[in-house]
Parts: sequence; C-alpha cells; structure tokens
Amino acid sequence: MPDKAKITLDGKTYEYPVIVGTEGEKAIDISALRAETGYITLDNGYGNTGSCQSAITFIDGDKGILRYRGIPIEELAEKSFFIETAYLLMYGELPNSQDFDTFSERLNKSSLIHEEMMNIFAGYPKGAHPMAVLTSVVASLAAFYPVKDNLDPADEEVIIANLMSQIRTIAAVSYKKSIGEPVVYPSNKLKFVENFLNMMFASPVKDYQLDPDVVKALDMFFLLSADHEQNCSTSTVRMAGSSLANIYAVIGAGISALWGKLHGGANQEVIEMLEQIRDTRTSPAAFVDAIKNNKGKLMGFGHRVYKNFDPRAKIIKGLCHSLLKKPGLNDPMFDIALKLEEIALKDDYFLSRKLYPNVDFYSGLILKAAGFPVNMFTVLFAIGRVPGWLAHWREMRHDKNTRINRPRQVYQGPTQRAYVPIEKRK
Ligand code: ACO
Repeated sequence: MPDKAKITLDGKTYEYPVIVGTEGEKAIDISALRAETGYITLDNGYGNTGSCQSAITFIDGDKGILRYRGIPIEELAEKSFFIETAYLLMYGELPNSQDFDTFSERLNKSSLIHEEMMNIFAGYPKGAHPMAVLTSVVASLAAFYPVKDNLDPADEEVIIANLMSQIRTIAAVSYKKSIGEPVVYPSNKLKFVENFLNMMFASPVKDYQLDPDVVKALDMFFLLSADHEQNCSTSTVRMAGSSLANIYAVIGAGISALWGKLHGGANQEVIEMLEQIRDTRTSPAAFVDAIKNNKGKLMGFGHRVYKNFDPRAKIIKGLCHSLLKKPGLNDPMFDIALKLEEIALKDDYFLSRKLYPNVDFYSGLILKAAGFPVNMFTVLFAIGRVPGWLAHWREMRHDKNTRINRPRQVYQGPTQRAYVPIEKRK
C-alpha cells in the first residue's frame, strides 16, 4: 500500500499522506490540500469524509460487523450489560470489580436532578413531544452545572455521572408530568435499568413489579444503542463540543440531531407504520409495492454504512422472538414486521440498493412490549446513546489534533452586486 497519494491538479502533482487504521481502513489526509492547491473537497452528506481518527467503535458495513473497543457487539450483548459496556466505551477497557463499584456508586449519587428543575417541566404544554422536553431540559443542565474550559479528570467523572444518570431521571419526570402523575424519585437501592423502569411506571398508590425479562430487554436495547461511531448525532456532539461549549448543552444538541426520523426518530416511525398497516388491513406486499411506486421509505430499512445486515437488528429480532412469546406480550405487529422484511429481502428494489433492516426496525416492538408509549422511543434511544456521545466528546478533548470543526463550502450564490434602495426595487 502506498504511503502517499498523488493528486494531479492544473498540471501539477501533489502528494498527501495515506493514513491506515488498525482494521486496514485507508484515508488520504488532505488537510494541506487547500493551502497547497486552492482546492477543497466536496462530499455531500459526508459519505466519504473522515472527520477524525477514533479508537472507540469499529464498523464494517459490508460485512455487517460492529465492535465496541474491539469487542464484537454479539459478545457484549450476550455477556455484558449496559453500564459495564458504557464504562468500556468511555474508558477503553472493561472495568474490574472495584472500578465498576466506584462507577455505579457515582451514578447513584448523581441520579437526583436539582429540585429547581421541576419548575422547568411545569412550563411545557400538555402533549409536548418528550424529545422536545428532553433536548431542552438536558441543555438546561448547563444552567445548573457551569463547566470550565480546562477540565481535570475529576471534573470529567462528574460530567459523565451527571449526564448518564440524570438523563434517565429527566426522561421519567417528563413522562410523569405528561400523564399528570406525581414524580417518582430515583432510588439508590435499584440498579440502573430497574431504577428507570420504577421511576417511569411506579406510582404512590401502586408498586411497579419488575419483570426480569423486560429489564434484560431494555438493558440490551440501551447496550445496542450505546455507540455507532460518527453518525449524525455523534458528529453533532463532536461539532458542538469542538467549540468548547458547555457539555450539557452539547449533549442537548446531540439529542436534537437524534430526534430526526431519518436517525433515532425512526423507531417511532416504524411502529406508526406497522400500526397503519394493521389498522388499514393493508397487506404487507401491497404496502411494499406502494413504497416502491411512490419512492417512499420503508422505515427501519437502509443505512448509510451497513450495506448488509445491521448486526444490532439481528440481535433485536432474536430478542423480539423471545420476549414477545411471553403471555400478555404477544404483538401481531411482530408478524407484520417479519412479513415486511421477508418481502423486502426478496425484492430487487431493496436488494439492488442494499437495503436491510436497521436497529430501529424491531426495537420499537421491544419497547412497546416493555410498556413504553411510542413517543418515548427516541428518548430511550438517547438514554442508551449518552455513553457513546460522552466517549467521543472525551476522546476529542484529549486528541491533540482537535481543532474547532468548521467545514468549507462551494459558494453558488450571486456574485458581487450593489445594494438597491427600497424605492428603486421592483
Ligand atoms: N425504503 C425505501 N427506499 C430506501 C430506503 C428505505 N428505507 N432507504 C433508502 N432508500 C433508497 C433511496 O430512495 C435511494 O434510492 P434511489 O437510488 O433510487 O434514489 C437509495 O435507497 C439510497 O438511499 P439514500 O437515502 O441515498 O441513502 P442514505 O445513506 O443517504 O440514507 C438512511 C440512509 C437515512 C438511513 C435511509 O436508508 C433511510 O431514510 N431509511 C429510513 C429511515 C431509517 O430507518 N432511519 C434509521 C437509520 S439507523 C439510525 O440512524 C439509528
């Protein structure tokens, strides 16, 4: 493999370093291109642009491989659990038992939000989308926790524990407020996922009966959501964080990016699509045909990087098979989803475009079975994604090559023209 790439422009040849990643990914470092040649690169949607070098998550989209810090996602899903995997993502290694206990203790200690924040929730209209509330309340943490420019490791620990722990409390409080029930406070007696389920579904008049299968399914969902390298929301976190903005506001920006239906908002869209098929009694085959004819999107299908199965979708599909077998949790929409997948994966439209189910295709069914309302699904994705966002923010801050992120553009607007006074305008 050459260690330099040659680019010939206007009759002159320039050489740029080739960077090779530990998994053999190749990149041309064009950071000196504009200064030397006057050219920039143009890459709509950043499909071919590496924005950083990272040691957190590896994806091979052609082979359907996903690894966190080198460990295959399938192995983590089988043997690990969310909080341990979150630690792995943020600190690079699995914790020993002492580190794990210290980390859990820190999460417990940070779980209460400032009581004055309760006033913020009171200001939202009834029916506000929980993602609108989450984005702004998480960003509001910046008002309670000013962050200095030069953070020492202890400051970083506080930030990590606050965000991981309090996003869960904020999500549960916003749900309770939206249904007009009293808030249930976190409890140090409960583990991370149990604590969240209890805050969501317990009430002063009724205890919440924890079902270990539901706890496991939600834990697995969080684990599978925990990171996915330079996706839209993580790139947003890196972009906003590169200006040294307050990290709580930065995570608020990441949550906003996640909300879109082409990204984390797809899990809500998938369930709404399945409900529409169920309620209108449309056959899955006719639905897929309509998608093709109208050039619409089969929600939960397709991915910028995976051109083969999304490994997270395989795991979640397996989880659906086991969880939805439980008495009371069976959901006919799972059969609709299976049928849609079967039809799409035999159809040349989807095969030729390499469109396979992504993580969101089956995840909504798990969350629905766990008792969550559909509009909370993307909130749950955000809770799971916090460790990934923090891992990238932390990596970026410690990378000596980090500069403020500032892409260029090719200007296509009017060339210079004179200002016309209002009385002379047509
Ligand atoms: N259903 C039908 N056709 C699709 C789908 C889909 N879900 N996704 C892509 N296509 C088609 C496009 O129309 C396009 O067709 P064309 O070549 O005839 O114009 C072709 O496949 C390529 O698609 P792009 O949109 O260019 O792919 P891109 O990489 O830009 O987008 C994305 C990826 C946003 C995920 C897209 O596949 C999509 O919109 N999927 C549905 C939404 C979804 O499930 N999002 C969740 C992604 S996972 C996550 O973020 C957690």
